[in-house]
Amino acid sequence: HKTRKPFPENFFWGASTSAYQVEGANLEDGKGPSCQDVKEVPEGTSDLTVCADHYHHMKEDVALMAEMGFKSYRFSIAWTRILPKGTGEINQKGIDFYNELIDECLKYGIEPIVTMFHFDMPAALDERGSWGNPDSVQWFVDFARVLFENFGDRVKYWLTINEQNMLTLVGPVIGTLMIPEGCTNVLKEVYQQNHHMLVAQAKAMVLCHQMLPEAKIGPAPNISLVYPATCKPEDVIAAQNFNAIRNWLYLDMAVYGIYNAIVWSYLEENDATPTFAPGDEEAMKNAHPDFIGFNYYNTATVEAASDEEVLADAVADQQSGSIEAGMYKGFRNPNLVTTEFGWEIDPVGFRATIREMDSRYHLPLLVTENGLGAYDTLTEDGKVHDPYRIEYLRQHIAQIQEAITDGAQMLGYNPWSAIDLISTHEGMKKRYGFIYVDRDEFDLGTLNRYRKDSFYWYKKVIASNGEDL
Ligand code: BG6
Repeated sequence: HKTRKPFPENFFWGASTSAYQVEGANLEDGKGPSCQDVKEVPEGTSDLTVCADHYHHMKEDVALMAEMGFKSYRFSIAWTRILPKGTGEINQKGIDFYNELIDECLKYGIEPIVTMFHFDMPAALDERGSWGNPDSVQWFVDFARVLFENFGDRVKYWLTINEQNMLTLVGPVIGTLMIPEGCTNVLKEVYQQNHHMLVAQAKAMVLCHQMLPEAKIGPAPNISLVYPATCKPEDVIAAQNFNAIRNWLYLDMAVYGIYNAIVWSYLEENDATPTFAPGDEEAMKNAHPDFIGFNYYNTATVEAASDEEVLADAVADQQSGSIEAGMYKGFRNPNLVTTEFGWEIDPVGFRATIREMDSRYHLPLLVTENGLGAYDTLTEDGKVHDPYRIEYLRQHIAQIQEAITDGAQMLGYNPWSAIDLISTHEGMKKRYGFIYVDRDEFDLGTLNRYRKDSFYWYKKVIASNGEDL
């Protein structure tokens, strides 16, 4: 584009966190354990008892976000802080904490964008079969009702389930999604759990619209376009397969209430179609998100797999716990560089992903995550020089503006993460924040906050509404 359209006036510039990764105080003030608190901590990484200790630094943290000029803050509410056992009794202290957080945001004119579920299933519900139990739909809806009742007077933007697609595809890596021992058809089990989540999400969206007519609600999957490795037609089919499995299944259901046909046929062939409970179909058809929230980190590239490879892949997949054997084979995109942690960086793919979503779903889009995980160093004079992060964010923001110029309706940009926190499986050393938290993997340090170079840079970006990158 020769001239780029400006960012909308009320664009939500902000950033994201999730409760179990940022709060700490994981068993304090009546909070019950979640699956994250009882799982085995990956070797060489911190546990989740303190994290960034946001629970005890909340006002200071929100003040720093306000200093950057945030228009929005996307955080998640820990189910087990509200309902320690997942169902039943409400923990008033949990309600109080989020009331304070929401009020603190509003005090500065920061729009709270609330994720209802971010990888933290109550441990008590895992004991009852987790998402594999058909009752999980009702557990989630009941939790949603408590949230809407208590916070709906002030929270106008809701996100249902963070990265449901990643839970389904790589749940065990994130430390959530339970496969019962002795399960003989893992694919079927996983997609049954996935089905329960889809129905739970649909019912929560309907409930939100009933209880809070002014509020807006949407899903928050991780969406990134899958490229074919070459223009070989078989590679294109492989890319379509993975696009369907990775991306469109989740959005076709959230937006249109239908199962993606490619995925359904794949499940049929593997004897893995989910069982519908009475009313499921109707529930899914009745739900209509107001927008699509999505996380974007990088694209994927795949090629077709030969019969022998399919076989080899299936064996490897069984061992690694990955489940989509034989539909495609991963391919390292030679056109992209990677982060220190091996993630491909693809800003143009961001635009391509947005275009594709816009043309498939015609809904406003809210970026709920994007960002660079890196090792950061605090200098002796209390600075963090992170030009690599600035560069990553600059390139991605520029591509959002291209997408706006293409015609996509973009609501906001909430990169990961507002403040340093614990990564899903690579600990505290992999940092994403604009705000540095002084602690190491195991040494809790002072927990003091420091403004990184990216903090000042983002402040300027927000003040200029994206013009001064
Ligand atoms: C997303 C998650 O997958 O990416 C976050 O929603 C996560 O919870 C983020 O932290 C970055 O991934 P990681 O593995 O580097 O922490």
